Amino acid sequence: MSRMEDGPLTRADDERIERLVRSMTWDEKLAQMQVVFRPDPAELERWVRAGAGAIFWPRSAAAVNELQRVAIEQTRLGIPLLVGLDVIHGQRTIAPTPLAMAASFDPDIVERTARLAALEAASGGVNWTFSPMIDVSRDPRWGRAVESFGEDPYLNAALGAAMIRGYQGDNLHDPGSIAATAKHFAGYGHAEGGRDYNTADMSEHRLRNVYLEPFRAATSAGVAAVMAAFNTIGGKPVHAHRRLLTGVLKDEWGMRGVIVGDADGVANLVPHGVAADLLDAVRQSVQAGLDIEMGGNLTDDGGHAVLAPGDLPADRVDDAVRRILTLKSRLGLFDRPYVPEGAEITEPTRHARALVRAAAIRSTVLLKNDGTLPVTLNGRVLLTGPYATSTDHLGAWTQSFAAPAGSIAAELIGRHPQVTFTIEPGAGFYDDDPADLRAVETAAASHDLVLVFAGEPSHLSGEAASRSDLRLPGRQEELIRAVAATGVPFVVVLVNGRPLVTSGWIDAAPAVLEAWHLGTEAPAAIVDVLTGAAEPAGRLPMSFPRSTGQVPIYYSHEATGRPATRGGTMRQETIDIGLAGPDNVTEKYTSKYLDLELGPQFDFGHGGGYTTFRHANARLSADRLSCAALDSGARVEVSVDVSNTGGRDGDEVVQLYVRDLVSSVAQPVRRMVAFARRHVAAGQTITVSFKLGTEQLGFWDVDANPARFVVEPGTFALYIGSSLHATHELAFEVG
Ligand code: NOJ
Repeated sequence: MSRMEDGPLTRADDERIERLVRSMTWDEKLAQMQVVFRPDPAELERWVRAGAGAIFWPRSAAAVNELQRVAIEQTRLGIPLLVGLDVIHGQRTIAPTPLAMAASFDPDIVERTARLAALEAASGGVNWTFSPMIDVSRDPRWGRAVESFGEDPYLNAALGAAMIRGYQGDNLHDPGSIAATAKHFAGYGHAEGGRDYNTADMSEHRLRNVYLEPFRAATSAGVAAVMAAFNTIGGKPVHAHRRLLTGVLKDEWGMRGVIVGDADGVANLVPHGVAADLLDAVRQSVQAGLDIEMGGNLTDDGGHAVLAPGDLPADRVDDAVRRILTLKSRLGLFDRPYVPEGAEITEPTRHARALVRAAAIRSTVLLKNDGTLPVTLNGRVLLTGPYATSTDHLGAWTQSFAAPAGSIAAELIGRHPQVTFTIEPGAGFYDDDPADLRAVETAAASHDLVLVFAGEPSHLSGEAASRSDLRLPGRQEELIRAVAATGVPFVVVLVNGRPLVTSGWIDAAPAVLEAWHLGTEAPAAIVDVLTGAAEPAGRLPMSFPRSTGQVPIYYSHEATGRPATRGGTMRQETIDIGLAGPDNVTEKYTSKYLDLELGPQFDFGHGGGYTTFRHANARLSADRLSCAALDSGARVEVSVDVSNTGGRDGDEVVQLYVRDLVSSVAQPVRRMVAFARRHVAAGQTITVSFKLGTEQLGFWDVDANPARFVVEPGTFALYIGSSLHATHELAFEVG
């Protein structure tokens, strides 16, 4: 894995960087420290001629080369450009959304799809992506949950690191490698009310133990850049948060890459009310540790700095410029600024399609199944729901040139000429006509099977796409209930960006497949899984709530003093009984909602498959380790034997959770510390083992000054199994 801090910069590279820093004027330095996006090509070129260090939204390899030529031949120092783009889950060939990919629990496929995206993007002159997003997301109202790896810090850390490896490759210098950006640092997923850009206040304990952990992992993985978040923490917008940007990221973790602002995030300090004007905002953010401003607010389009030399510490500016030039050197831009135009990839290759199809299959989650899935297609099959014919499968964040997807109906019809398909959409995303539902009911009666393709259009998730109601939009719930009432066997396939509330219909559906927005090959992958040509073996990376009022809901919540053991009830007699005796009193005065059962509809880590597994013989290599041994790197091995007891080959996702039973602070009731997705042939038994050490057993003690990562002596419960609940419990002592 490439690590910026270990990368092979030669002495000549270092000398060039120092020579440039010494010879740059104040204006040239500030011009380097911004990424400029202007839709008008002539205007963008003017900025480049005036020394802008980075541009955004390249149009083609030829257009990028032209701008690189301007930077190299028509500026005094000839410094090449960083060329950035939001390559979020694919460039031309689109992979599943990050939340969907998280459901694969498969770092390898995440890395390989990121590599594919890097190769395609790099061929068009992009050398920097604003991805991965590793914001822990525990509130599905927040539309950007779709861009994250879900609710768990460890899953975000593991998959974020995999994506960074894919983008950056073994060496940033290699053609096909691009710089990654871990974003948004930090706490952005904690937006109050799930409303995008909103305040994200939280304790230092929560920040350190949950929201910062994936960024710490990204820094260790050598991420080239980190993007500041739009939100405030403790009243301070992150773009001006010196303690986080400089104190934690650069000084404590030793991040040697660049910190980039989010789009106009510096300018937004003014409406935040912490900067008097734009100049004040620039001053505050550069002083806080920001290296690159996104928007072009540091100079005018003639390259004249908006601040005078005395307005900013010279060594801070030099540090920022050095970091930027170092990144350009590591990318090899001084030696190889141009890309071969004839080699630009503009279409998915067969290999690329096969890879994203495999990724799409691996991302599907079987939410429930009474045996209706996989289906055998013959006779008459009714296709209904807005996603039967929709081609909106790419997901919330793709560029206009992304390779489109087809529809599921076209895929089914093309692959199964022996079947008579009828299409009766029934409901749109916004369609209010109940007559369409009656048409589906009537049609269902004369069909052998109904396939309902329901969901959420992709523009309802992503940036600035928060929702206050997590049910299927339009009349889709009614559609599912109407189909259920006919008694004809049916399956629901969900195509959506975020966790949905399904309680209005889930009990009536015999089989439900979560298919997310799966990208260019979505229809092929969905048909593979429906028909059993492939296995659905993904697991949920975020809890699916029972009702919107239950969010934020996440498995790894802290232990409360009054944990609930029974579901809620609003029935008065139960409350009266509750007050009558001590046991029942305890039951009433516990942490729950009176009008909901306990827990989510579907847990984090939940998901079925077409075969069955048995876990047995869970064991530890030692029951106890001393703190001293752990400090010196000792680890305990946890193992379990996993047997495929069904009739088909399949994948199991073995999950390992920890609970620190008695600690100086209230700990999460479970915390994922490891997982492994393994293929097990029918009848076969494999052993899966994980090693646990300080990293897995410890937590950030924020009462210490400075905060420190500690393992406290005591008993730890370890839970290993196929889900949060189906686990074997083992006890382990740290002495
Ligand atoms: C704003 C988004 O928050 C960020 O994720 C993205 O990279 C930038 N815009 C640039 O598009």
